[in-house]
Amino acid sequence: MEDLKSLKIRGVGPITINKLIEYGYSPELIAVTPAWQISRETGIPVDKVELIAERIREDMGIGDELMTAKEYYEMRKSMEKISTGCKALDNLLLGGIETGSITEFIGEYGAGKTQICHQLSVMVQLPRELGGLEAKAIYLDTEGTFRPERIVQIAKYRGLDPDRALDNILYGRVYNTDHQILMVRNLFSIVKKENVKLVIVDSLISHFRSEYPGRENLAMRQQLLNSHVHDLLKLAMLHKVAVVVTNQVVSSPDVFFGNPLKPAGGNVVAHGCTYRIWIRKSKNKRIAKVIDSPCMPEMEVVFSITENGIEDL
Ligand code: GTP
Ligand code: MG
Repeated sequence: MEDLKSLKIRGVGPITINKLIEYGYSPELIAVTPAWQISRETGIPVDKVELIAERIREDMGIGDELMTAKEYYEMRKSMEKISTGCKALDNLLLGGIETGSITEFIGEYGAGKTQICHQLSVMVQLPRELGGLEAKAIYLDTEGTFRPERIVQIAKYRGLDPDRALDNILYGRVYNTDHQILMVRNLFSIVKKENVKLVIVDSLISHFRSEYPGRENLAMRQQLLNSHVHDLLKLAMLHKVAVVVTNQVVSSPDVFFGNPLKPAGGNVVAHGCTYRIWIRKSKNKRIAKVIDSPCMPEMEVVFSITENGIEDL
């Protein structure tokens, strides 16, 4: 199904359809989002949402049947990797950034998160033998720190035509949480049309933190963030794109021993992101390690940020 407007269901009129579109719902997103959630958000009665979702799933051939572990294994194997362009980081990530998952880069101010995002949006464009996927990137910028000049530098170093490299990055400046949520929902149709293999959100939660400050807003903030992270995960899995998000660190006052810093966003972000990489500054180098992963090596690697981008030391 191309769009919601072509949907013909008895009892579902244009007002309902327009409401769904207004909230950024594409057929794909409706198919994989709980009906109660759509209903609560849009005010459309839940049974009506269920009716629509059922029809979309039928049309899309999304069934409720099981698959064998072998089929699941094959599906997992079809996920691809994007090289970071830095051997040490690739080793840490077991080959690179994975499609179908969310990879989170965590770190303090100046750690290099935004630099990694710039580098990845060039790397994804490279041919496969050089670690890319010959595809485009989408860059959602919540802090206004995207620099096309930096893309030009990195692209030149990687042997790409800088103009083409810029053309292959679809850039969106994000102004607030509502805008961010809606933009990600709109990506479902864009990613399908364009050859996009990487979606970056830099940073994931800055707007959420400033719009919902303090304890009194925490529950609301976490609820919105949770649904946003799930939208990103659905996007990654449904369209086999790599999603990369950045996250800040906050100090937790209740830690007396060990590291008082922790990633912002709490469990909601921790559970949604498949791979979490913590970066810290140390003199003129950067140190990266994986956190919270049951299946990745517990090691630290070093890299540096130079004029050419992210490089091995
Ligand atoms: P916040 O967004 O503030 O939380 O930080 P971040 O983790 O996104 O940091 P970012 O990626 O912006 O890193 C900034 C750092 O990258 C700078 O402090 C520089 O050390 C380094 N950097 C950026 N551009 C260049 C460059 O052209 N050459 C060199 N050598 N270093 C650079
Ligand atoms: Mg940044």
